[in-house]
Amino acid sequence: MLELIRTADGSNTIYNSEVGENYHSRNGALQESRHVFVNSGLCYFLEKTRSFLKVPPTGGDPIAIGLERVWATVSILEVGFGTGLNFLLSADLCAEKKVRLNYTGIEAYPLSKELATQTGYDQYVSASTWQRFTDGYEKALSSQIQLNPNCRLQIASCKLLDFESANQYDIIYYDAFAAARQPEMWDEAAIAHTIRFLKPGGVFVTYAITGNLKRSLKALGCTIEKAPGAAGKREMLRAVKLL
Ligand SMILES: C[S@@+](CC[C@H](N)C(=O)[O-])C[C@H]1O[C@@H](n2cnc3c(N)ncnc32)[C@H](O)[C@@H]1O
Repeated sequence: MLELIRTADGSNTIYNSEVGENYHSRNGALQESRHVFVNSGLCYFLEKTRSFLKVPPTGGDPIAIGLERVWATVSILEVGFGTGLNFLLSADLCAEKKVRLNYTGIEAYPLSKELATQTGYDQYVSASTWQRFTDGYEKALSSQIQLNPNCRLQIASCKLLDFESANQYDIIYYDAFAAARQPEMWDEAAIAHTIRFLKPGGVFVTYAITGNLKRSLKALGCTIEKAPGAAGKREMLRAVKLL
């Protein structure tokens, strides 16, 4: 039912024959993850907030003044954790930028550890991130793990609509199967449930863009932006929660 396949940029993804869908774009799993989630979500948020830079007491632009970056914290909620590729790339970027990461992935059908460690994604992240991810994967399915002093991961093993948390997040990666295959993941109830967990000023990103999705997000108090899509797609969607 689950099979590892190669995508156009040489990175692997998983094909789910029951759903008839891949976990990533066939045009490149790695490029899609980097473009849609890491660059258009995480990097956009960090740049927008510049929360990882020390604000000088006298005011002014910390970058122009050349102040050192300080450790700040960013929290990410992912809908559809799957292989963990979005998490792995985000964890490495946060380490590089000196940002603490609290990451929660929601996954209704977690991969076995065996399959999760056969993706070949060790090529794209640091050896320590990969090692700690594979060592802690099974534990993360039932509780939060400390991957390193600056990175925490929890995989909530439940369906999106059953997910509950007292936390709100800075960024949401919405990586559900396409609406043609799983329409219930894109209806108003699913999007409203998800946006409850986004902080005001927080950023929601996804690879898809449809009229229904835009309308749902606007009705939930978000501003909508079309951003250039990953390879093979003209556009993707980014939303910022106002209220
Ligand atoms: C497009 S794939 C996600 C790919 C993943 N982000 C990755 O990098 O591997 C969609 C994921 O959503 C999961 N899923 C399906 N129905 C779900 C539901 N109701 N709630 C949460 N996750 C669900 C699937 O098992 C699958 O892992």
